[in-house]
Amino acid sequence: MSVCSYVANDVTDEAKWGDLSKNLRNDPKVVRAFYLAIAPDLFGPTCEYIQKKKYYRRDARVVIEKPLGHDLASSIAINDEVSRIFHEDQVYRIDHYLGKETVQNLLALRFANILFEPIWNSAHIDHVQITVAESVGAGTRGYYDESGALRDMVQNHIIQLLCLVAMEPPASDAANALRDEKLKVLRSLKPVTGPEVPRVTVRGQYRGGSVDGAAVAGYQDELPADKKGSRTETFVAIKAEIQNWRWAGVPFYIRTGKRLPSRVSELVIQFRNIPHSIFDHAEGAPRPNRLVIRIQPDEGVKLFLMIKDPGPGGMRLREVPLNLSFAETFADRTPEAYERLLLDVIRGQQTLFMRRDELEAAWMWVDPIRTGWDAATDAPQTYTSGTWGPTAAIALIERDGRTWHEDGY
Ligand code: BG6
Repeated sequence: MSVCSYVANDVTDEAKWGDLSKNLRNDPKVVRAFYLAIAPDLFGPTCEYIQKKKYYRRDARVVIEKPLGHDLASSIAINDEVSRIFHEDQVYRIDHYLGKETVQNLLALRFANILFEPIWNSAHIDHVQITVAESVGAGTRGYYDESGALRDMVQNHIIQLLCLVAMEPPASDAANALRDEKLKVLRSLKPVTGPEVPRVTVRGQYRGGSVDGAAVAGYQDELPADKKGSRTETFVAIKAEIQNWRWAGVPFYIRTGKRLPSRVSELVIQFRNIPHSIFDHAEGAPRPNRLVIRIQPDEGVKLFLMIKDPGPGGMRLREVPLNLSFAETFADRTPEAYERLLLDVIRGQQTLFMRRDELEAAWMWVDPIRTGWDAATDAPQTYTSGTWGPTAAIALIERDGRTWHEDGY
């Protein structure tokens, strides 16, 4: 007998549901997980059907995945529908970024080492950058034009990364301990509303250009005739702020986009400069330390330090990274994010899944940005495919005397 079995069902038609009971063994030791890889408007009816047909068990699990709504109201509606049948401890809301090895490693880095936590605050950190860049385009996915980069990438993946960087140390890695801390970060995010929207956000849309040496079409050219003129953003940059003691005055610059020069996701923790240099006579001024956590590809961690260039000459300071490459350090293959997450569903471990209140708090932050853009008379700024987004995204950070980290891309 196989350990795992899988049954595909067409949930749009009750007649086609067939008799799942043949496959759902009534052994309490057998985990029962319903993975609803379906359109969100089918979540509610499907959950009800599961109950009606008596497939529901108190220890069953239901897995749902984005789009979990397109704003706060629709997200609440989905959560209400699912929670009419399933309790919160049975609901597994997937964000596949949380299943990525390097993202989990952020927890290890922060909470399994003594080194970072004492300096993980506004006294020592100047700012944080989160980049999730993709070289692919939006393609012909109909869904993308409805969602845009803000809903597709920021509301979920990027906000989750921000929470893991910014949260207080949880008491344990138990699901609710960790999710309570993430929720506090979400609730401390400074709202971006009204006139703040154009001041701290940038949205862009790619036009034709070249990526990896190949000519690529612009977003508008890829759209079907009835969607031409769409103002959907394929690039977003935001200067976010967290209003609490740890992070007051430390901007979190986030950016994501399609058709950027390369596929790279990384977190950059930019430390402050040293308070006083004893090396006035040195060649090259000390540069502030930087911790770069590369989520993909080439997963790894780089800590940029100042060292003295070898040689009998004067004091020549140079910035060199301590480079921890996962591929070089670990012989094991890196599992796909979904492998870990699906195993966690079976194990009944919810730590890496989003709780309802987290999801809703994320929408609360994102919604006013969307509203601001929808009310604006201007369209997203265009950028040439194969570049780092609209020039306004560069200005967003450079206005503050800082630059995007684009080292070694
Ligand atoms: C998905 C988005 O959630 O994440 C896609 O809908 C995006 O638009 C993808 O391409 C990126 O995932 P990854 O794992 O390739 O970084």
